[in-house]
Amino acid sequence: MSNFHALVPAAGFGARMGHELPKQYLPLAGQPMIAHALATLCACEQISRVWVVLSPEDTQFRHYDFSRFGDKLQPLYCGGTSRAESVLNGLLAADIDADDWLLVHDAARPCLTQAHLHKLISELKNDAVGGLLAVPVADTLKRADGVARVLRTESRAQLWQAQTPQMFRAGVLARALQQCPDVTDDASAIEALGLQPKLVACDATNFKVTYPQDLLLAELLINQPR
Ligand code: CTP
Ligand code: MG
Repeated sequence: MSNFHALVPAAGFGARMGHELPKQYLPLAGQPMIAHALATLCACEQISRVWVVLSPEDTQFRHYDFSRFGDKLQPLYCGGTSRAESVLNGLLAADIDADDWLLVHDAARPCLTQAHLHKLISELKNDAVGGLLAVPVADTLKRADGVARVLRTESRAQLWQAQTPQMFRAGVLARALQQCPDVTDDASAIEALGLQPKLVACDATNFKVTYPQDLLLAELLINQPR
């Protein structure tokens, strides 16, 4: 039986948020944003370890008392210059069997629920490849020219928006990210190996906090009984 672990890349600066504090530490419903995803992952009984990958220059993480998460939570100060590099560095630093499942989850998706996690794990635990939470595209899609004029309308049929967690065997993911470092998610590196990750249908509440207005939406969701 293989184990399940989580790895949370949290070494970004949050440039699009435009705040001097990296966005994972901005206050959200009374806690730093990162605490929400860590709480959900640490509370999941199937997950044995939660590694959080921080920038080597991180000065914030140690200021918070995360002792409630116990030994399950392990910080790693080995983040890189891209998300993919942070995930790979974390994977190599963490003591993890190649056959174990790894769930990679953005620190910037604080609205993840136990229901989301259970659905991902139950749909993928017997899968040969692994996969990711995702949402079918709902809006009509426009292709623009360089000055925001519509060139054409694109079909949204069979298009999905990728979310996290993304769940793959640790050994395969490490190999994929070593061979294909220029990717914006883990699944893209797996795809470059010629494999087909499975899309597990999620919902829009598991969105990524990217811009200032996303903070209000996340706070409303977190304060909502779900
Ligand atoms: N991340 C990381 N290491 C990096 C860049 C990003 O660990 N060098 C993490 C972020 O901390 C975040 C997740 O990857 O939890 C998703 O990235 P994103 O939302 O793009 O965060 P940032 O890169 O911090 O934001 P921006 O792109 O606006 O600068
Ligand atoms: Mg980024």
